[in-house]
Amino acid sequence: MHDMKVFLLVAVTVLAPMAIAQKFEGLAKTPQMGWNSWNKFGCDVSEKLIRETADAMVASGMKDAGYQYINIDDCWHGERDARGFIQPNKEHFPSGMKALADYVHSRGLKLGIYSDAGWKTCGGKPGSRGYEFQDALTYAEWGVDYLKYDWCNTDGLKAESAYLTMREALRKAGRPVLFSICEWGDNQPWSWAKDVGHSWRTTGDIYNCFDCVHDHGTWKSWGVLQILDKQEGLREHAGPDHWNDMDMLEVGNGMSVNEDRAHFSIWAMLASPLIAGNDLRTMSRETTAILTNRQAISINQDPLGVQAFKHSSQDDVEFWFKPLANGAWAFMALNRNKERRKVSFSWAREDVSDAFSKRSLPAHGPGYTLQNVWLNRAAGSTLKPLVVEVAGHDVLLLTLTPRVMPTKREM
Ligand code: GLA
Repeated sequence: MHDMKVFLLVAVTVLAPMAIAQKFEGLAKTPQMGWNSWNKFGCDVSEKLIRETADAMVASGMKDAGYQYINIDDCWHGERDARGFIQPNKEHFPSGMKALADYVHSRGLKLGIYSDAGWKTCGGKPGSRGYEFQDALTYAEWGVDYLKYDWCNTDGLKAESAYLTMREALRKAGRPVLFSICEWGDNQPWSWAKDVGHSWRTTGDIYNCFDCVHDHGTWKSWGVLQILDKQEGLREHAGPDHWNDMDMLEVGNGMSVNEDRAHFSIWAMLASPLIAGNDLRTMSRETTAILTNRQAISINQDPLGVQAFKHSSQDDVEFWFKPLANGAWAFMALNRNKERRKVSFSWAREDVSDAFSKRSLPAHGPGYTLQNVWLNRAAGSTLKPLVVEVAGHDVLLLTLTPRVMPTKREM
């Protein structure tokens, strides 16, 4: 009898933690890339839009550049059926979600969906509160690959527990689903969400503007620079499979080309998920070129997964550095001014070091060769100080590749 008790005690203490499921590991070793309907289309979503967007993602070259997810945001929902299963809106999604997922998969892409931890979504549709396991099962049956999980109408709920419940539900449903936490940074998700989701929003919603705040009365949305400034102190919490999410892109939604380029560069440097938010079916050549710039994307997708840090600033032009794999770096000079600015940066004199990644830019030695990302051309080396003019609301984005010390024979 005594032995039995000991056995049970051991079994409970050893096995109980194992009963708690994990998130699906490894789905976002680098920040997720895709598209989401909200920024451009709001509640105006339909299976037609999703199919056409999947086609456009392939045709525009975005898929080849690394974009993978087609995400339907709020308002796809109809009602729950008599047994509580959620249905898509029949008018806008007449073929059903399974058929839509099959279509998106047939294009070599993945399908994302949206729900909310509360009783209703932000758009007033049925939320998942009380239906978490049933909803997760439904999404798995449909073939959904990504869930953005919002935080409206959650009075009385604790964010960490609510997101854990959905993580458990997704795990139980058995289909690998990237879990994108969206509670706007209100409950410091960076301090608890690493094992819960693959990314977490750090701020309220983005506003399609480079430098402004939009006041909606009870809440505010934020321009590109405002979102950037809110990232201070967060970089040490992000890394492979757990990213700070600066919200979806507004590239192609009406800012100037310079601003769009700067916006994309900032998201690349800070290793934020790259989720396009424009109409892919009608985008301009400039927009396509920004969204598919291979070098900017590879800065974002660098396997080291370290966010950039602000080193210094000069006349409201900020100098940012991002350590990359294989001893390389990315550098961004971000001009926050509306007017152009001439700045200089002496690689040899500045002490560029990062305690978090334990990397530093040696002032002496063979230096680095520079590549201008947006012009796609060589830009000299760090042996000479950088002197450059940056247009208003624009960036200079460079990659720094270590020069190899020539051997004696080569000299
Ligand atoms: C919140 C989210 C947005 C979007 C809307 C949908 O505001 O933060 O990204 O999903 O809800 O209603």
